Amino acid sequence: MSIDPIAKHRAFSVAPMMDWTDRHCRFFHRILTRQSILYTEMLTTGAILNGDRERLLAFDASEHPVALQIGGADTKELAIAAQIGASFGYNEINLNCGCPSDRVQSGAFGACLMREPKLVADCIKAMQDVVGVPVTVKCRLGVDDDDEQARLFEFVETVAAADCQVFIVHARKAWLKGLSPKQNRDVPPLNYPLVQQLKRERPDLTIILNGGISDLDTAVAEIAGGVDGVMLGRLAYQQPWLLAEVDPTFFQSLSPVKTPEQVIEKLLPYVEDRLTAGDRLQAIARHILGLFQGRPGARAFRRHLSENATKEYAGPEVIAAAAAMVDPSDERSAA
Ligand SMILES: Cc1cc2nc3c(=O)[nH]c(=O)nc-3n(C[C@H](O)[C@H](O)[C@H](O)COP(=O)(O)O)c2cc1C
Repeated sequence: MSIDPIAKHRAFSVAPMMDWTDRHCRFFHRILTRQSILYTEMLTTGAILNGDRERLLAFDASEHPVALQIGGADTKELAIAAQIGASFGYNEINLNCGCPSDRVQSGAFGACLMREPKLVADCIKAMQDVVGVPVTVKCRLGVDDDDEQARLFEFVETVAAADCQVFIVHARKAWLKGLSPKQNRDVPPLNYPLVQQLKRERPDLTIILNGGISDLDTAVAEIAGGVDGVMLGRLAYQQPWLLAEVDPTFFQSLSPVKTPEQVIEKLLPYVEDRLTAGDRLQAIARHILGLFQGRPGARAFRRHLSENATKEYAGPEVIAAAAAMVDPSDERSAA
């Protein structure tokens, strides 16, 4: 059994979300929480092997610890993709065994892999053979009419035998027929107790609970219930200020920022750098729309960004002007 070099960060992570958790989003999230693990969007082996690697894989040094999520099911391609990912400096390689989209099903990876635990074990082994960082899995409880307990436990048993030690479990099945990917994040019922049971039966494994966590109190309670950590997706993205509470709540360390205004201050030099590197303001601004949620002026902030960040020569001043529309007398502060 190998040591997990980022074990002390496992209590909280931000989920891989396609089109959302790109490098700009992760940089922004990292201003709010120093300790959490941040996941990339899923990148397919095809994209990593054949695409513009610098554009797809490069990230800012401040993003560590950061995990690359890969989608694929071909052992050789996964090994090469993992090796490329590790060479970019990712701290973990994660295999997607939970995505239910049609595009993914036709490639027979993602959630379909819940029914191919031996293949997943081979994939994990192939990747572990070529990288020095942990290779982990993000999965569901099963697919379609599977018996959740039987499917999940058999899957984990088989994949753990290949020395995969970290399982992130989205605590619901994927229904591959009849539901869109979006519906598949809400409709199949959650089953946290089954994930807790998995941790009780396999205390040697690191088990991370994901899916539908609606506040930090729930996350704390689930960790108290046994699992090693939680992964939040939509809530973290839509209410990013909540991430300012993560370091004090889960890592006994001070929040890196006291106010959303400080977040903006820390973001602006990055915006400047990225625009110089050729990125568009909108690519960054779109991730920060929810930062001031609940504060008087939050709507004006959002509107100013939405109306101006897409303009051709839009620069950091657009973000600064938007932030100035928020009422400074109603400052929120983090613990
Ligand atoms: C817009 C969006 C894109 C997503 N893309 C991915 C992805 O690329 N890989 C993945 O494993 N899960 C993906 N997911 C699922 C999330 O990682 C997470 O498992 C799911 O949203 C449940 O967690 P939550 O209720 O905290 O959001 C995506 C979710 C959303 C909302």
